[in-house]
Amino acid sequence: MSRFPEAVLVLSLIAGGAFAQGLGLGREATPAEIAAWNIDVRPDGLGLPDGSGSVLDGEEIFTETCAVCHGDFGEGVGRYPALAGGFDTLADDRPVKTVGSYWPYLSTAWDYIHRAMPYGDAQSLEDDQVYAILAYILYLNDIVDDEEFVLSRGNFDQIVMPNGENFYFDDRAETELPLFTERCMENCKDSAEITARADPALTPEE
Ligand code: HEC
Repeated sequence: MSRFPEAVLVLSLIAGGAFAQGLGLGREATPAEIAAWNIDVRPDGLGLPDGSGSVLDGEEIFTETCAVCHGDFGEGVGRYPALAGGFDTLADDRPVKTVGSYWPYLSTAWDYIHRAMPYGDAQSLEDDQVYAILAYILYLNDIVDDEEFVLSRGNFDQIVMPNGENFYFDDRAETELPLFTERCMENCKDSAEITARADPALTPEE
């Protein structure tokens, strides 16, 4: 049999979209499909939709849809994560990392809640509801102190996250890597000894 049909198939795979239409393979994604998939919000806020929501509305939605797992005041129920508090614990053995104590960008919280919460019913929240819930979480963390506060696309960038300044760009390529590039190939140490251990919970003695 001629090899010709395979050659056409390979060519069309390489050429992709240009040939696909002519050969009846696939179709272009519709604008609605792209919009449903393209929901990421960048740290600098790019991708945030217009919208707004108040602390008081947020409290109501949070109590109904989030508190069963995260507690009425974001304190966390059982092993579900706390969303508020934990300030001054980051250097402890068991730091309490919450949106308030740890997260560097508010936009990440917007994206995460909008994308993944409530757990089990993800992407069921309207944009304004996400703004309202986030306003309430800011209030729970004393990042805003007025219960009349309304969070919106307009004032979003003015919110300063308490731990934001403590994140910095990964500089290991400059600071650490040079220390590890030269391997010992001769006159090396006779044996390696363990001089310290990680938390025994991670590396049990036995
Ligand atoms: C059925 C339980 C449940 C409900 C209801 C729920 N969550 Fe969660 N939430 C979780 C779990 C579990 C995680 C951790 C998920 C993970 O780490 O992968 C989480 C994580 C989070 C986090 C990230 C916490 C962190 O610091 O890592 C935020 C923020 C959050 N939820 C917000 C909300 C909001 C807002 C709602 C209500 C709209 C909500 N959740 C409803 C179970 C729930």
